[in-house]
Amino acid sequence: MVLLGGVVFGVLLTIALANPDPGCASSLTTASGTRAKPGPYCSWDLIFEDNFNSLDFDTWEHENTLSGGGNWEFQWYQNNRSNSYCENGIFYIRPTLLADDTGEAFLSSGTLNIHGSEPANQCTSAMNFGCERTGTATNLINPIKSARVRTVNSFSFRYGTMEVRARMPTGDWLWPAVWLLPKRQVYGTWPASGEIDLLESRGNMDYRGSNGVHIGTEQFGSTLHFGPNPSLNGWETT
Ligand SMILES: *[C@@H]1O[C@H](CO)[C@@H](O)[C@H](O)[C@H]1NC(C)=O
Repeated sequence: MVLLGGVVFGVLLTIALANPDPGCASSLTTASGTRAKPGPYCSWDLIFEDNFNSLDFDTWEHENTLSGGGNWEFQWYQNNRSNSYCENGIFYIRPTLLADDTGEAFLSSGTLNIHGSEPANQCTSAMNFGCERTGTATNLINPIKSARVRTVNSFSFRYGTMEVRARMPTGDWLWPAVWLLPKRQVYGTWPASGEIDLLESRGNMDYRGSNGVHIGTEQFGSTLHFGPNPSLNGWETT
């Protein structure tokens, strides 16, 4: 899930609920994680919901990495209330500038080490120099701080219906996204075990493709990624 900024979302997962009712139509849904109700479930019962009256850190694990989630995203995902917080039943993700903390020169000359020493602030992905980077004039340290949260350990499910209410931000450089990724790579590494992109969008108010079509806030994408390896990813067919 790439959440670069300004995303506002409420999640409502409607799937199935542990229900002793013998008359219920049993569901194929299975779920696991610390916030998952024990199955088996009845069809169409609710088994997971978060309306963000508060930010539950046991449900929403914050990533802490510079790795950019496979896309070289130009940001440091971290757990900081300047970048992610709940207010009036809404979860906000808000980007801020690293240079406001470090000064501009740090981006091209400093070293950012985010390994952390406590369980709660350890770096969560070392991929692509995700735990430590040194800036140079041509390779700046990620200039944006933002947040990316996941439920991989608190709730994952197989089969079901999911609803997410989210408002997308406006602003150049913003690329909010809501994704489902496999908890385990049962069929192999990406994209072999799949990826469901509920949405991705751009925050640009005025951004057009070469054919003149608006590809900023006027558009969003919903795609599937699948296939035996990245070069045979079938996402363009979705
Ligand atoms: C959180 O972000 C603020 C604003 O950028 C910064 O001043 C503060 O040091 C950060 N807190 C931590 C624990 O990194």
